[in-house]
Amino acid sequence: MSKIIAMAGKGGVGKTTVSALVARYFTHHQKDAFLAIDADPNSNLGETLGLKIEKTVGDIREDFMKDPQGVPSGMDKIVYIEMLMNQVLIEQEKFDLLVMGRQEGQGCYCMVNNILNRFAEELEGNYKYLLVDNEAGMEHLSRRTSGKVDMLLMVTDYALRGLRAVGRINDMLKDLKLDVKHKGLIVNRAPENLGKAFMDEVERIGIPIMCIVPDDQNLLEFDMEQRSLLDLEDDSPAVVAINQMMEKVKEIID
Ligand SMILES: Nc1ncnc2c1ncn2[C@@H]1O[C@H](COP(=O)(O)OP(=O)(O)OP(=O)(O)O)[C@@H](O)[C@H]1O
Ligand SMILES: [Mg+2]
Repeated sequence: MSKIIAMAGKGGVGKTTVSALVARYFTHHQKDAFLAIDADPNSNLGETLGLKIEKTVGDIREDFMKDPQGVPSGMDKIVYIEMLMNQVLIEQEKFDLLVMGRQEGQGCYCMVNNILNRFAEELEGNYKYLLVDNEAGMEHLSRRTSGKVDMLLMVTDYALRGLRAVGRINDMLKDLKLDVKHKGLIVNRAPENLGKAFMDEVERIGIPIMCIVPDDQNLLEFDMEQRSLLDLEDDSPAVVAINQMMEKVKEIID
């Protein structure tokens, strides 16, 4: 069964950046195939990985719902939707990317959602790791039928507000029926020393710090130049931190 690494955290704290750096770790340091899933409706994981996104799973769902009779004659509905899904999967040499896109609008989407979910689950079986960049609300994770997450990386910036959001997500997990095997806190854009008020709150929330990521000017530069974070240098401070973290994460989940 594939191992699932997922991100959680308040808006703008660095979930997509961390996801891209985890993807960079996988492409540079191990051979197993992995699937990156962009579960944020404002999808931008693809961009940070230097990929152009044309169609999302959400687009397929909408297209199908707009014209359910559009299935080519003689073709089974399920086969048709699966064919469309294959067009959405972006295949790269070292990994694949699936962009979920927007959530459904109004109407009964059960049938098409069931087919999409089944397809996604079959697809996921082909990879050793799944990397899920979530939206802040974690709707995607909570909808999965196999609600297992091997490592939930909860990202916060160096601010009590980000940290408290992590605390709330942590409380919410109990209601989500998610089977979260391990949790780790990532403090992003952190100074060298974490202050007492911050550390007190970390202790209160009770999630171990897995990684402290410094502010990394190269990330800003790459963002401005629209370059793939996969091409960051090995000695870029954020890369160094995430690579170290991933060695630990693999030891825990493998
Ligand atoms: N360690 C860092 N050093 C410098 N800049 C960073 C760092 N981490 C993230 N950033 C920058 O902060 C911005 C927000 O990061 P990112 O998009 O990863 O956050 P997010 O949690 O995915 O946001 P959203 O909730 O909108 O999806 C980006 O412009 C990114 O380049
Ligand atoms: Mg994001």
